[in-house]
Order: sequence, then structure tokens, then C-alpha cells
Amino acid sequence: MGNSKSTRGFANESEYQYQPPGPNDSRSPCPALNALANHGYLPRDGKNIPQEVLQRAAQQKMGLSWLATKVILKQSYKTAGHDGLLSLSDLCYHAPDSIEHDGSLSRIDATLSNNQQGKFNQERFDKFLSFSKDGKYLTTEDVAAARLYFKADSHAHNPQCIWNKDIEEAMWTEASILLHILGKNGRISIEDAKLFFEKETFPSNWQKHPSFGVRERYTAAKALKNAARRINK
Ligand code: HEM
Repeated sequence: MGNSKSTRGFANESEYQYQPPGPNDSRSPCPALNALANHGYLPRDGKNIPQEVLQRAAQQKMGLSWLATKVILKQSYKTAGHDGLLSLSDLCYHAPDSIEHDGSLSRIDATLSNNQQGKFNQERFDKFLSFSKDGKYLTTEDVAAARLYFKADSHAHNPQCIWNKDIEEAMWTEASILLHILGKNGRISIEDAKLFFEKETFPSNWQKHPSFGVRERYTAAKALKNAARRINK
């Protein structure tokens, strides 16, 4: 599934230097969207973003296809938007129909963190990294094991854990785009994962995916689910 609908690219890349967010800037539970704002592909304050601005940034900078972006944005603006706009912190909205969910790789569950589900948590992220078997890369198998671990942990320790079919699917989808958009061919280096999650920036030698569409997303999520099945056997 290619980028069947095009948006304007970012002409002068030198204008998009990294700047860490200020105390009043709005940030989300998604490291990718935060990185886009930290580089100015989204408004740096992260506030009141029209859907087409987010569509362009996810498509042109991250390589998500037009349709794959549209699907996730439709749900985001429907559940968390206000008057057709979205501030990044609106994505912390936590409910059965929200994109934000429990059992994340780098954030503590809403009810266990006094609603800090949008904030990066170093301890949790270090636990995620500990699933790397060689200490250099996170592979499909490593990420599948981590995903299973954090899901089970939330179910065991969070009496108010919200879980359903859509959340289950979102959990595999996010992990698959991490491995294929930020990483390559189903694995990501620990070094790149640290830059992406801890600093919310793009690795220096990183190149965007040519077009990560609905079909690629399905195949990648399936590979992760198959790896999880092998672990559970
Ligand atoms: C296109 C628009 C996008 C929207 C609206 C969006 C939104 C979100 C939201 C709300 C979460 C929080 C889920 C949770 O509670 O864990 C999330 C997580 C995540 N997103 Fe995005 N996202 C988008 C694109 C991307 C892209 C292009 C990537 C590429 C790598 C990405 C990578 C991730 C990852 C890895 C997580 C999991 C974080 C964790 O578990 O700690 N997202 N996203």
C-alpha cells in the first residue's frame, strides 16, 4: 500500500533542528509525535494542531503511508480532538476507545502513575531494553517478549487496567512501526531506541521508510504476534 495521496515534503531540512520542549509545551505519550514537534515538523509547542499538519508530518518525515496515517488520525481526532484540532497532550486521554493504553513500553499506566501516562519513565524503558538478548539490538522476538511482559504486568498489578480487542491490536501495531519505521527489517539498535525514546529525536543515520502502509503494518504486526505465540508455547 503506497502513499497514494501525496502531501508537500519538507524542503529545507536544516530548518528542522532539534530543540528540547519547554515547560509549557504540549507533549504526547507517543515518542514519534514528540520527536516531530521537537524538530519543528509539528508546531514546537505541540498545541492546536490541524489534522492535515499531523498527516503531512507523519507521512513526509516518518514514511507512514497516507491511508495508515489517516486511519490512526481519524480515531485520534474523534476521541481526543477539540474543534478539529489536537494538542499533543490530548492524546493522554485514557478510556476504552482511546489510542493511549495501559501496558506501554516506556510509560506507567494512568491509574498507577497519578495520570502521568504521557510521561517517559526511565525505569520502565530500561526494563524494556533488558529484553534485548545481545544487548545491541531489539529484535522482533525481543519486542514480542517485552510486549507480553508489560501486558501481563498491567493485568496483574493494575486493578483498573483497561483492555479490549482494539487496544490489543494497537499494542502490536505500535511495536511493529517501532521495528520497521525507526528500525529496519524487524529490529532496532539499542542506541537508536535510546535516542528515540529518551531524547525524542531521530537517529543521525536514520532514513524514513519508503512507505509503511496498511499491508506492511499488518505483516509486521503478524510477525510480532507469531513470535509471541512461539514464546507462549
Ligand atoms: C500518525 C500518527 C500517530 C499517532 C496519532 C500516534 C499516537 C500514539 C499514542 C496515543 C500512543 C500511546 C499509546 C500508549 O499508551 O502506549 C503511541 C505510542 C507509540 N507510538 Fe505513536 N502515533 C503515531 C505515529 C507513530 C509513528 C509514525 C511511530 C513510529 C515509530 C510511532 C511509534 C509509537 C511507539 C513505539 C509507541 C509506544 C510507546 C510505548 O509503549 O511506550 N507512532 N502513539
